[in-house]
Amino acid sequence: MCGIVGGVAERNISEILIEGLKRLEYRGYDSAGLALINHGQVLRERRVGKVVNLEEAVKSHQVAGTLGIAHTRWATHGKPTETNAHPHISGKVAVVHNGIIENYAELKADLQALGYVFSSQTDTEVVAHLVAEALKTADSLLVAVQSIVSKLKGAYALGIVHADYPDELITVREGSPLVIGVGIGENFIGSDQLALLPITNRFIYLEEGDIARLTRTSIEIYAHGTQAVQRPVKELDATVSNSSKGEYKHYMLKEIYEQPEALQQTISQALNGNALREDFLADAEVNFRNIEQIQIIACGTSYHAGMIAKYWAEQLIDVPCQVEIASEFRYRSPVIINRTLYVCISQSGETADTLAALRDTQKRAAAKGLNIATMTICNVATSSMVRETDHHLLTLAGPEIGVASTKAFTTQLAALMLLLLKIGQVKQRISAEQMTEITDALWHCPKVILDTLQHNAEILRLSELFVEKQHCLFLGRGTHFPIALEGALKLKEISYIHAEGYAAGELKHGPLALVDNDMPVVILAPQDDMLDKLKSNMEEVQARGGELFIFADEQSGITEKDRQHVVNIPSVNTWLAPIVYSIPVQLLSYHVAVLRGTDVDQPRNLAKSVTVE
Ligand code: AGP
Repeated sequence: MCGIVGGVAERNISEILIEGLKRLEYRGYDSAGLALINHGQVLRERRVGKVVNLEEAVKSHQVAGTLGIAHTRWATHGKPTETNAHPHISGKVAVVHNGIIENYAELKADLQALGYVFSSQTDTEVVAHLVAEALKTADSLLVAVQSIVSKLKGAYALGIVHADYPDELITVREGSPLVIGVGIGENFIGSDQLALLPITNRFIYLEEGDIARLTRTSIEIYAHGTQAVQRPVKELDATVSNSSKGEYKHYMLKEIYEQPEALQQTISQALNGNALREDFLADAEVNFRNIEQIQIIACGTSYHAGMIAKYWAEQLIDVPCQVEIASEFRYRSPVIINRTLYVCISQSGETADTLAALRDTQKRAAAKGLNIATMTICNVATSSMVRETDHHLLTLAGPEIGVASTKAFTTQLAALMLLLLKIGQVKQRISAEQMTEITDALWHCPKVILDTLQHNAEILRLSELFVEKQHCLFLGRGTHFPIALEGALKLKEISYIHAEGYAAGELKHGPLALVDNDMPVVILAPQDDMLDKLKSNMEEVQARGGELFIFADEQSGITEKDRQHVVNIPSVNTWLAPIVYSIPVQLLSYHVAVLRGTDVDQPRNLAKSVTVE
């Protein structure tokens, strides 16, 4: 989703802005632009398509300047055209914006009545004109911006420059992420710290409602727009900065292969041999003792992780657990229940729907005086969700750049299991034998995944049989029903093949009608007590001519035959099997997408972090 980079320096920053935009490409976008201030003029370039198009234009027109803002746009209001691309200009003011100005139509009408002419269909352009109008009476750019933000409804992060203020970058955070990168004699802004990592590892994370004024040598921050505050400068360590593709052709493949290590990291923070570390979620013990149920809120892949946790929570520690898609939860006025642990699961920690659901829950619980606790399972330590929940558990997966979630998902599963072990221990609902069994299995998991990755070449061969297909079904039972959903999501989002995931028991309640000679059906068949029932479902598919692609436990007894392809997956403890069975569906989707020639890391129409509704 849209990306912002900006900076104020002594040197020409055009290349820094372009590099920053390239590092945000993973978020998804359809046009790019920048504006630099040079000798009292706003120099602007915008291009539809990839950042390289913008880069060529900037080079060929020799656009340079020491103050500037840049943007990748993911179209919401108005088509992905050059005139809709940011920055938007009003006289000497230039603005880039992430998020949505919900009341832009009425603001636009007011501005048009004052004589402002709009050149785009975007909601953003109103901000440029509002600032220009405010500057007729305000005595500085900062004051002008401070005076207009109260008129804006919605979620936004803004970068604003003015040709007559050549050493001043104003930025606003309200509902969309924004960080300040602190340099030496130069300062920057970015919608994601990744954009700024080549130039600094020192960051200030703005709070909602902050307005900041950056010059080359100073950073002033105003809470709620006007109250001067100091925000801490945080230094990132080198591992967080490791975000290159290395030897891999795509980030997605790299991230699939990083899973053993990512899991090892996530597990190590919580376990000491077969025991939970004493300091692991120690601050949450009182709340865990008190809670009677869990409500998980998440979107997309993170929601699938939550679905698996529901099976685990109820079977393993006897704690009722609900899981719901955040975009539904936030709008259906759910009853907020006393003594509930509300858990947000999110790779980014910035997903608009999940964040809004969390905030709404907190507000409504406070209004009713309810005793709830909130928690985030997240991959980004500095994210809004981590900062706004009572407790958090980090998935130590490292930066995930590919839009398709892979290592974030499997580490979310490991983190959820660790969380449940902790709750189970605090509530004395888990036996010593279970604790030993599951912690042993967790430690063993990275090795089983390494062994599963050995089947990559086999999976590549099978993926060739999907290239011409239009549709595909994924089937699983129990904790592998969510893996079927996740497999279908992975395949559709990166290969653009229509795919559906089903609980195999639902087959004859509808989807069986779709099965014919042309329908590949992917089966997830771990060695568990549902295996015999799953085998019957496989018979039902075969009897209708469907072609089976089965990821089966090596002890399952399922063998290859005509139109039945089998990849043997190493045996794994049943509790943790969904983590391991994620790997073959990720690899299958990856290879099918590569063979179909799609943009694997940045699939069309999608963004890595969905920070608007
Ligand atoms: C899955 O591959 C997607 N990238 C998507 O479904 C993602 O999981 C969803 O947008 C939620 O993102 P989050 O985990 O950052 O909240």
